[in-house]
Amino acid sequence: MSIRRTKIVATLGPASSTAECIAALIDAGMNVARMNFSHGTADEHRQRARLVREMAAQKGLHVALMGDLQGPKIRIARFVDGKIHLAIGDKFRLSTSHPLDDGTSEVVGIDYPQLVEDCRTGDELLLDDGRVVLHVDQVTTDEVRCTVTAGGPLSNHKGINRRGGGLSAAALTDKDRNDILIASELEMEYVAVSFPRDAADMHLARRLLKEAGSSAWLIAKIERAEAVADEAALDGLIEASDGVMVARGDLGVEIGDAELVGIQKTIISRARRQNKVVITATQMMESMISSPLPTRAEVSDVANAALDYTDAVMLSAESAAGSFPIEAVQAMARVCVGAEKHPTSQSSSHRLHQSFERCDETIALAAMYAGNHFPGVTAIISLTESGHTPLIMSRIRSHLPIFALSPNAQTLGKVAMFRGVQSIEFNPLSMDSREVNQAAVDKLLSLGHVQQGDWVILTKGDVYNSEGGTNSLKLLHVGESLV
Ligand code: G6P
Repeated sequence: MSIRRTKIVATLGPASSTAECIAALIDAGMNVARMNFSHGTADEHRQRARLVREMAAQKGLHVALMGDLQGPKIRIARFVDGKIHLAIGDKFRLSTSHPLDDGTSEVVGIDYPQLVEDCRTGDELLLDDGRVVLHVDQVTTDEVRCTVTAGGPLSNHKGINRRGGGLSAAALTDKDRNDILIASELEMEYVAVSFPRDAADMHLARRLLKEAGSSAWLIAKIERAEAVADEAALDGLIEASDGVMVARGDLGVEIGDAELVGIQKTIISRARRQNKVVITATQMMESMISSPLPTRAEVSDVANAALDYTDAVMLSAESAAGSFPIEAVQAMARVCVGAEKHPTSQSSSHRLHQSFERCDETIALAAMYAGNHFPGVTAIISLTESGHTPLIMSRIRSHLPIFALSPNAQTLGKVAMFRGVQSIEFNPLSMDSREVNQAAVDKLLSLGHVQQGDWVILTKGDVYNSEGGTNSLKLLHVGESLV
């Protein structure tokens, strides 16, 4: 089977916490393990992170860790009996003064006092990802009084969104600040920020991460209507981040499902154009929570995200709490490889009519152009410090595998998210500088990625192990003496 280019982010949870299961997830193709800080204790995350590191090391593979902050999701409190049932036409109140444990089928508490300031008569509130819909009739100083327009069961702690967005809670809660410390302690490669409103929220997260001593890359979850309201808002968020996630759950609730597919395509292409990584998430293999096989619609959804050229597709409950976590990763891997065979996955018009800005960027893009057009080339090798050079390369569509060679474990982990890029540990400083080309090609030969007679393209700088210095590209013939 050819090397899969589209990466897989799998969320770890109660269904996937043992060493055996984590090892099997890695074998099945998990490139990034997501820890969801909305669930579980710090010690559970520590334990899972340790197992991911151990199992990956045993296999000689690089799997990134991504911590996903809970963020300010606004939720109802609890019901006396845990659950109520609402029918169309029922009157229902959300109250900031009602006791939090004492919800009934008429009123439930909520510990977000600003709700009464954020809501207006005529608004539509969506509970439990839109399964229950409330029309706001009246707002008092401590209550939002509503009529049910879509009914159903409603249980403790379900989330609240407003159609069109606009609930104003700040992006980083005290819990998030604490979880940033845990992400730093566990040396996570990625941290995802939930419900960021704008670039300022990302800047704050970055400052907190830095203060905690972390060099993690920041992912902005695009899930508020405001974030996609216009191009400037979206571009601002992308710019302030190292990558974005198309977080289709809350986003779909706020903007409506009809808009979602178009927005997904826009987010993916705008992120790639800004040289940022992009993850497509939510319900991709939802039925596999309880079934060993995906539906055709799910197959099509994963394949389409791969055809849109997302870096990664993501599993949530499927791998965290479902009955078939390993099968879900296997199915995703299979579907991505299939989609990648499609011709649109392999030719590129990326930045065809634009000028480049930097020397390393020019070399990276030239390497891909050369590789795509010179038959006989079977691999691109990029010597990298931070992952920047292979990141630029992997924004271009290509059938060629890109191998990121670096001595830096964090970099190798980060690179595990990039589409079409494989992480390989390699330290040019440990050898005579004249032997580096030969050693890099030999490494790929020994791993079976290239064969005698192949051409490979190698990029590097004049100085080894220094960021941003890539200034040369070489065409090397495997089998010839390269010293
Ligand atoms: C390695 C190579 C250098 C190259 C650098 C690029 O360190 O030894 O020759 O300049 O990678 O790193 P970057 O982080 O910019 O991709």
